[in-house]
Amino acid sequence: MTPKVIAIDGHSSTGKSSLSKKVALALGFIHVDTGAMYRAVAWYALDKNLLSSEGELLVDKLVESLDDINLKFELNPNSGNREIHLNGQNIEGEIRSMEVANLVSTVAKIPEIREHLVKLQRQMANEVGIVMDGRDIGSVVFPDAPVKIFLTASAKVRAQRRYDELRSNGVEITFDEVEENINSRDAIDTQRSASPLVKAEDAVEVNNDHMNQEETLQTVLKIIKEKG
Ligand code: C5P
Repeated sequence: MTPKVIAIDGHSSTGKSSLSKKVALALGFIHVDTGAMYRAVAWYALDKNLLSSEGELLVDKLVESLDDINLKFELNPNSGNREIHLNGQNIEGEIRSMEVANLVSTVAKIPEIREHLVKLQRQMANEVGIVMDGRDIGSVVFPDAPVKIFLTASAKVRAQRRYDELRSNGVEITFDEVEENINSRDAIDTQRSASPLVKAEDAVEVNNDHMNQEETLQTVLKIIKEKG
């Protein structure tokens, strides 16, 4: 049976993951958050201190370690979400830190790391169907996906949403720090040579600057219905 894949790509903090979770729930599909996979590799680099004395990422060491990084999504029955585990440890909370956010785009531009994770992502396609969110799902991972969404919003709106979310989780951070992280990740993600963030030609763009989560969900479900 051909895998049913819904690809949801877009910029940081557009609400891709929350949206993808809800779309998957509505369709009875499985959700795969590929950003969590890149974040998990970044967290591993920090945890193993794969950084030079100047704080630069030791790229060769991280690439050599890839076979020791076992990533799995496991259902958390309490939250109902599939959460990321690295070598058996649930690190879903750890990967959301600013330390990880500041390193992840550097990790994600390494071609060997992308190849490794893309292979894992393709293996996750199953008979039930998946909603996969990321930056290169419609352009590289599943170029034949029958439905591709490209989610976008202005940098200011995205920074404000992320700032509100972090503050409500008790994280001490300023708006400027959040905005700087978003702008810097946008720049690295769109300018890298290995699979830069681009809208696939056949993706439908949804700008949710003036939509709340429910309106975004309904817009995307309507597009899926029209394509299906
Ligand atoms: O989606 P999220 O913001 O958690 O992704 C974290 C980072 O991982 C992105 O800023 C990007 O650098 C990288 N990423 C990627 N390709 C994907 C998913 C995420 O390069 N498919």
